[in-house]
Amino acid sequence: MPARLNGRDPPAPARLRVRHAGLFCGGPGASGTSPAPAAGTLPVCRTGLAWQGGRAGGYNGGQRPEEASPTNAPDAHPLLEAIRRRSSVRRFDPRPVEPARIAAVLEAAVWAPNHHLTEPWRFAVVTGSARARLAELAGAAGADPARAARDRERLLHTPALIAVFALPGEGPLATRENLLATAAAVENLLLAAHALGLGAIWRTPGFLSHPSVQAFLAPEPGADPVGLIFLGYPAAGEADRPRRRLPWKAVTRWLGD
Ligand SMILES: Cc1cc2nc3c(=O)[nH]c(=O)nc-3n(C[C@H](O)[C@H](O)[C@H](O)COP(=O)(O)O)c2cc1C
Repeated sequence: MPARLNGRDPPAPARLRVRHAGLFCGGPGASGTSPAPAAGTLPVCRTGLAWQGGRAGGYNGGQRPEEASPTNAPDAHPLLEAIRRRSSVRRFDPRPVEPARIAAVLEAAVWAPNHHLTEPWRFAVVTGSARARLAELAGAAGADPARAARDRERLLHTPALIAVFALPGEGPLATRENLLATAAAVENLLLAAHALGLGAIWRTPGFLSHPSVQAFLAPEPGADPVGLIFLGYPAAGEADRPRRRLPWKAVTRWLGD
């Protein structure tokens, strides 16, 4: 069934081509206008339209936004509930994560959208005794001994680590798109971890770019480190912490009716 808005057909999207920060949104390929959606379907690329120009904060275009929400009960769908309830987890129970669960979060990651099906993401899973080697390399990589000691402790107290890399593309645009696709893969991974009862945090420690760490983890020279995902069962009180976001209306301009 096509998605409907509060039981009504959605407004037809503006026939617009929109650029924002180098991203194209609006129609098939790199030119043309956005096609009108089939009756009853959600407008294509509404977010892209929303981001045209302006700044966050009082940014609602005033176009009857209550009609723009697919549902007034955001937790009504398990996926929406997972998106709302996932939070970064920083402290973990020491028990190991089963390899099948790690495989499941990676499986979710690789279903992320990616332009031209470049599948640009690469992962390195570090568990068990391999954590000590990573901790050693991370400790040696930094100039600040206090930070190095903290990094070592974190790595050794995290049941599983997943380093994520994006492969370069054939030019700057392709490289950028590869990075964007890999970020989408990380979000899939985080949501899958949450759905499977795990906790995770996406970190970007400086040591990830160090040559010795790259040599240990990276699939090939030139792979861009996108993050190190710390993964495990959440320590007591760590999951479901309250989170804060601006309301979407504060960051959205809705054009059209
Ligand atoms: C690209 C990226 C890099 C991040 N790097 C770090 C980091 O180095 N250290 C850290 O504590 N959190 C890091 N985070 C996690 C954010 O701090 C966290 O997502 C934010 O506080 C919002 O909390 P939430 O994930 O619970 O919604 C990073 C998140 C992203 C998307």
